[in-house]
Amino acid sequence: MDVMEAIRTRHSVRKYQSKQISRADLETVIEAGLRAPNAGGRQGSIIIGVNNAELAEKLGKLNIAKFDRSALLGAYVSDEQPSIIDDHSIKSGFYGAPSVCAVFGPEKFLYSIADAFCCAENMTLAAKSLGISSCIIARGEETFDNPEGRKILEDWHIPEGYTARCFVLLGYIDGAEPSPKKIHEGRFRIID
Ligand SMILES: Cc1cc2nc3c(=O)[nH]c(=O)nc-3n(C[C@H](O)[C@H](O)[C@H](O)COP(=O)(O)O)c2cc1C
Repeated sequence: MDVMEAIRTRHSVRKYQSKQISRADLETVIEAGLRAPNAGGRQGSIIIGVNNAELAEKLGKLNIAKFDRSALLGAYVSDEQPSIIDDHSIKSGFYGAPSVCAVFGPEKFLYSIADAFCCAENMTLAAKSLGISSCIIARGEETFDNPEGRKILEDWHIPEGYTARCFVLLGYIDGAEPSPKKIHEGRFRIID
């Protein structure tokens, strides 16, 4: 699959089979993240791949434990792949994905968040090229800001001064691929 095909056909997926992705595919997706553009060439992001559905589920619950969905009442994401904003009965911010990568960055670096999301985007496209579905997930910082989360960071040897910036869910889609999204009007100009 060439890059433009991956870009055109990638969707955020929020319905997953329980089938696990292979370790080799997870390593390829992580490599894509590690090779992303990064401010100042610092390579400050750290990626932890969790190929363990039970742990992913636990993290997914922590991910929305503090999230106030009522603040986003009226917001709309997708009918075909409803998000936690669309469907308040969803109990995990990770939607049952069997694998997840957490992307960490330095707390005190101006481009830490931008770097992390560059990693995440590379990862979603690499996943697509391997036939794996994905979804970028926010609320990294708050996911680990609790006793259980802090213990996980310790177990993973996350360096002092680092915080989670985002997650990338990985797995095989349960059901049909969502239909292609229309690009909103007026979002670009070319100046000659
Ligand atoms: C910065 C960022 C944060 C996101 N956070 C979440 C999230 O927490 N939960 C979720 O279900 N989707 C999340 N998404 C996925 C978006 O909802 C999705 O990209 C958007 O609806 C467009 O759909 P598409 O990816 O299928 O094109 C996030 C995407 C980005 C770029």
